[in-house]
Amino acid sequence: MTENAHVVGLVGSLADDSTTRIAVDRALDAATAAGATTELLDLREWDLPVFDADAPDAGDAPELRRRLRAADAVLLGTPMYHGSYASPLKTALDYSGFDEFADTTVGLLAVAGGGFPLPALEHLRETMRALDAWTLPDQVAVPNSHAATADGRLADEDIEERVAELGHALVTYANVAAYPDCPTTPAPTAGD
Ligand SMILES: Cc1cc2nc3c(=O)[nH]c(=O)nc-3n(C[C@H](O)[C@H](O)[C@H](O)COP(=O)(O)O)c2cc1C
Repeated sequence: MTENAHVVGLVGSLADDSTTRIAVDRALDAATAAGATTELLDLREWDLPVFDADAPDAGDAPELRRRLRAADAVLLGTPMYHGSYASPLKTALDYSGFDEFADTTVGLLAVAGGGFPLPALEHLRETMRALDAWTLPDQVAVPNSHAATADGRLADEDIEERVAELGHALVTYANVAAYPDCPTTPAPTAGD
């Protein structure tokens, strides 16, 4: 566990009444309760044009990268769009890279209008693998989003608990790659 861990949540929905935002917010509350400082990066408030590889510093991209680099753990929350994660999050991730995610603990949360947003979680997990992040094995899927919230809160107690556990796990495993007894490269053994 990292003392004074800093956990950053990134929300991939721009919708005003976003279930994803409510869920990420709840996870960050749990992280705060576990002793972390937290920040929710709401992409509605960021100037991030569709990514152009010839303009990687467009808009607020440098500041976004700075905030992500300050994190010991990052929570990525996304709605499922057409069987994958949402384009605002993809854009934010395309402006980022190894400097922001390599060796960073990452938690995943996805929300679907339908039964199960598993593909969005799998695609995010693969993206994080490409950036050498340490993605937590536990993840949260919020199905049936039309019924998932009430009065600005998660309506289902079990889902709410899973979301809170994810927030807690981000603090427990923040900076896991830096643990001295958890080397990123295995030590050579005799005969290697
Ligand atoms: C463009 C678009 C594509 C979507 N595709 C899917 C989908 O493939 N599967 C699904 O279960 N829900 C799909 N949905 C529903 C969203 O996942 C659902 O409305 C979710 O609550 C949105 O998250 P938000 O409330 O955080 O904005 C789609 C919604 C939109 C706008």
